[in-house]
Amino acid sequence: MRTFALILSIITLLSLFACTKKNDNSRVTTSETTAPDTTAPDTTVPEQTTEAVTTDPNAPIYEDGGFTYKIDVKNYLQYICPSDPTEYLVIANRKHPLGSNYVPKNLVNISSTNSRQLVYTAKMALEAMCLEMQALKVYDTNAQSAYRSYSYQKNLYYNKYMEREREKYPHLSDAELMIIVDTYSARPGTSDHQTGLTLDFSPINSSFVNTKAFTYLTKNAHKFGFILRYPKGKENITGYKYEPWHWRFVGRDVATYIYEHGITLEEYMAEVNDTAIETFPEVEMPSLTPPETTKKETTSAETTPEETTPIETTAGETTSETTPPEETTPEETTTEEITTTEAVTTTEEVTTAEATTEAETTSPPSTSEIEK
Ligand code: DAL
Ligand code: ZN
Repeated sequence: MRTFALILSIITLLSLFACTKKNDNSRVTTSETTAPDTTAPDTTVPEQTTEAVTTDPNAPIYEDGGFTYKIDVKNYLQYICPSDPTEYLVIANRKHPLGSNYVPKNLVNISSTNSRQLVYTAKMALEAMCLEMQALKVYDTNAQSAYRSYSYQKNLYYNKYMEREREKYPHLSDAELMIIVDTYSARPGTSDHQTGLTLDFSPINSSFVNTKAFTYLTKNAHKFGFILRYPKGKENITGYKYEPWHWRFVGRDVATYIYEHGITLEEYMAEVNDTAIETFPEVEMPSLTPPETTKKETTSAETTPEETTPIETTAGETTSETTPPEETTPEETTTEEITTTEAVTTTEEVTTAEATTEAETTSPPSTSEIEK
């Protein structure tokens, strides 16, 4: 009996010890400042709770499909992620011409103050992207060239670029000049701009890579359904030189796939259709240096200021015949510099002449409306 009482006492003592330890633990996790039972309850808000309600100014406003946005894109999602993306996978290139009669459906002005046009869905996705860029203070660009009709492109290719190259390289034949122009401009009926799903951001030249806009677009345009149409290193697949300013709408799912796989629209289509990737064979460039005899003749014939300074940009800068051809690519000599501190927006007009309509295509566009 005495032994039983002894065991019972030991068990009781051990239980009490265990409970005390447990209570000690909970005290630590609750709060070191917990008042003893004899005082009033502590109503101080624990520090941890204060941290939890702090707002992060960089926090995203909206999330959808694993993407985060700085603006609420809820009302734009139906455009950014169209229900039938195949509608926006139109391919236009030299191997796949759209033809002279192709006019996309649902073309609308980019905004009430900008008469450039895009297909409605692409326009809405662009609007969302521009609002996002504004929210992120990316102001160093503008929506520039958008839809271009067959006849507009025809004028651009033949009356603008061909003539410009001819002035620079009078010793070359039409066929040779076309080899040069083909590297940066689409022949009529084959332009990505004729799809109404594409736009160029200013400045339309190689300096666009130095803009905040380019940095933003490179990492985020796919979130709004846009892709870089002519990436660097893919010239033999797209058929054109790198164009950092030229962005094409295909819808978010396709754009994300293309972005994540580092491929072009042509490669994507080949993958989807299970066909071989078509490539453009490298064409030998004509000699930009005139033969000795031709050089003499052209030198004496081209001494008028008008002819030696054929291109005036909006900034009043000129490109000159005296610039060695090797140092200036066709792209650089045929594009304009538009510097603006205006906000990125589809509601702004950069150059009024740029939005030349069909009726105006009989006369060449002014030198300030160079677009590619
Ligand atoms: N600059 C692109 C290739 C076009 O003319 O459509
Ligand atoms: Zn373009």
